[in-house]
Amino acid sequence: MNPIPSLYGKSLLTLDDVTDAEMLELVAMSARMKARRDRPSPRPRALLAGKNIVLVFEKASTRTRCAATVAASEEGAHAEYLGKNDIHFGKKESVADSARVLGRMFDGILFRGFSHGTVVQLATYAGVPVWNGLTDDAHPTQILADLQTMQQHFGSLSGLKVAYVGDGRNNVATSLMHGCAKAGVDMTVCCPPELEPGAMAMELAEEAAKRNRCRVKVDNDPMSGVRGANVLYTDVWVSMGEESQFDQRVKLLRPYQVNMDLVRRTGNLEKNRVIFLHCLPAFHNHDTEVTRKLGPLEVTDDVFEAPFSKVFDQAENRMHTIKAMMVASLVE
Ligand code: CP
Ligand code: NVA
Repeated sequence: MNPIPSLYGKSLLTLDDVTDAEMLELVAMSARMKARRDRPSPRPRALLAGKNIVLVFEKASTRTRCAATVAASEEGAHAEYLGKNDIHFGKKESVADSARVLGRMFDGILFRGFSHGTVVQLATYAGVPVWNGLTDDAHPTQILADLQTMQQHFGSLSGLKVAYVGDGRNNVATSLMHGCAKAGVDMTVCCPPELEPGAMAMELAEEAAKRNRCRVKVDNDPMSGVRGANVLYTDVWVSMGEESQFDQRVKLLRPYQVNMDLVRRTGNLEKNRVIFLHCLPAFHNHDTEVTRKLGPLEVTDDVFEAPFSKVFDQAENRMHTIKAMMVASLVE
């Protein structure tokens, strides 16, 4: 019944919690979840009937929260949302105590927050699977959806080259680097020297790349770094919790904006062999408070809205991957 029985009862805090094969099986399972949902009838049997899942979120979210809520409800589970003002967590009660209480009542916990240490503590004390829905250090469920989107578009991950352009040390960049290396996909991080991936993230990705005979590279020049890329990926320049560094980041990352010139530099536009991905939310048009003042930041509107932009497939896939992960962890 559970297609990945080795993941039963397990948490997912970083991609290091799954083997390379388990990660690819989760991606394949997500594709099956999508096909199963798209099928007109008969209505599939709910896989998580009677389960209760809690979403503990210290940071804002559109995709992760909604993906988890719909994934749970479609499979017959109840999802309870606890925002930062709803619980005592870390203020009037230690994380360890909250974890033990939640673990007595819920079958699984999805956490989004600041310190990665918090999700580790939750997993240590809860006694039920804990999934990382983003911390300052990692965003593993995002990467499962990214890999699914690449596979969905190109038919296979084999031989693909990914170029990530922007803040190379953030949660998405480093998790993507790790995920690509675990999947055997070449990846170049194009970023300024000040924002390169940390030594530990680099080491982890290099180890996986060696195992899977692919390459991870850092290039400070985006024009050379994107050459040959099939996937151009960017993220916001200022992650949640780093708002005080906004002006400095914008100055540093302006030369790393993903625009049509950079897309052409891949050499793959004419061949229809390049897609654009972004975990979202994105500053791409003039419709937000920030971009009304500064214009588009990490990506221009013509790239974001282009036919080769697959950002909404990618966003939808968050739901299928989170569903796959919940089923793999909770169904015996
Ligand atoms: N990509 C992502 O995690 O989006 P949210 O912040 O909206 O959850
Ligand atoms: N790096 C971003 C990702 C948002 C989904 C952040 O942490 O804010």
